[in-house]
Amino acid sequence: MAFSEKRENNGAAEDSNHSRLIKLREFDDTKLGVKGLVDAAVAKVPEIFRISNNNNKHQLPSDLDHSSSGSVLTIPVIDLKHPNTTAAAAVRREIVGGIRGSCEEWGFFQVVNHGIPEGILDEMIQGVRRFHELDPEIKKRYYTRDLISGFFLVSNFDLYRSAAASWRDTMGCVAAPDLPPPEQLPDATRDILIEYSKQVKQLSKTILELLSEALGLEPNRLNQLGCGAGQLLLGHYYPACPEPEVTIGVTDHTDASFITILLQDQIGGLQVLHRNKWVDVQPRKGALVVNLGDLLQLVSNDKFISVSHRVVPKRIGPRISVACFLRPLIHKGDTDSPPVYGPIPELLSEENPPVYVEADVREFMRIHSSRGLDEPSPLQHFRV
Ligand code: OGA
Ligand code: NI
Repeated sequence: MAFSEKRENNGAAEDSNHSRLIKLREFDDTKLGVKGLVDAAVAKVPEIFRISNNNNKHQLPSDLDHSSSGSVLTIPVIDLKHPNTTAAAAVRREIVGGIRGSCEEWGFFQVVNHGIPEGILDEMIQGVRRFHELDPEIKKRYYTRDLISGFFLVSNFDLYRSAAASWRDTMGCVAAPDLPPPEQLPDATRDILIEYSKQVKQLSKTILELLSEALGLEPNRLNQLGCGAGQLLLGHYYPACPEPEVTIGVTDHTDASFITILLQDQIGGLQVLHRNKWVDVQPRKGALVVNLGDLLQLVSNDKFISVSHRVVPKRIGPRISVACFLRPLIHKGDTDSPPVYGPIPELLSEENPPVYVEADVREFMRIHSSRGLDEPSPLQHFRV
C-alpha cells in the first residue's frame, strides 16, 4: 500500500473514531441512558451500540451470535438447606462437594434455600425497576461516572472504552463496609437496598465459608482474608430492544470480584461460557446465582475458575438484575496499606507452584476499571 493511501485510510479511521466519540458524548450527556432512547421510541438500535464483526476482539464465540448451545446442560443448583443436627456433617459434606464440583467445572452455581426471603428478592427487583422508571428529571441528578463516592446512575461504565456500547443502564453504590448515608439514597429504592445488601453480606459469609472448605481450607479462611469485606451493588436495567440481534446487554467478561451474587428476574438472557459454548442460566424463582471472580481464581491458584458470561438482549423487557460484587476494600480514603493478594500458601506445593505473583488490589482494580469490559481481564497481568 502506498504511503499516501495508508495515510488516507488512517485519516478515515480517525474521522470515524471522532464521530463515534461525538455520538457517545451526545448519548452520555442526555443522562437518560438506554431507557431514554426507548422512551423516545427509537425503532433502530443507534450506531454506537452496534457490534460489527471487526470489533469483536475475542477468540470467543462472537457476541453477534446470540444463540446458546441449546443444550440441556444447566449450571448446578446447590441446596443450602439448614442441616438438622443428626444429618449436619453429612449434609455439609454434600453441599461442599457440590460447590467444589461447580467451581472447578463451571465457575457458576445457583443457590436455593439460601435464607433470603423471596419477598425481599422480589422487592429488590421492584426497587431497581422503580428507580430506573423514575421521572427523568429526578433520575438525571444521580447520573455520574464516579462509582465509588455515592449512589449513581450510569449507562455503560466503560462507554468510552468498549468497542460497542451495551443495551443496559445501571444504578448502584458501594454497599459494604458502609452504604452511603440514607439521605443520599433515592426514595424509590432506599429501604430495600439497605435490607438486601445486609442480607447479601450475611449470605456471602456462608458462601465464603463453604468455598473455603471446598478448597480444603479452614472454614474461616476466605472471610479472614477479607474476601467479603467490600460490596459493590449494581442494579441493571436492560430495556426491551428493537433489534436484539445487532447488540449486546453485557459483553462477555469475567468479574473482578472474589465472588458475585446475582439476582435476576424471570426474563432470562444471562449465558455462561462452558466448554466453549454459551449455556443459558435459566431464571429460577427464589434462587440466586453465584459466580467466582478473577480474585478468587488468583487466590485459589487456578483451582477454581472465573468464567466468561454475557447477557443477550431481547425484544421483551425490561430485564432487571442485581449484581453484588464481593471484593476487597479499595474505597477512596482508605488509609490502611493496600492489601495484597496472592495464591493462598496452604494450596501450594512442589507439584502446585504459584501461577500468580502477589497482586496489589488497588492496582488490580485500576487495571480492571481502566479497560473496556470486552478487553482481557487483569488476571493476565499477574500471571507468573
Ligand atoms: C455483571 C453481570 C449479569 C446480569 O454485572 O457483571 O455479569 O445478569 N451481570 O445482569
Ligand atoms: Ni459479570
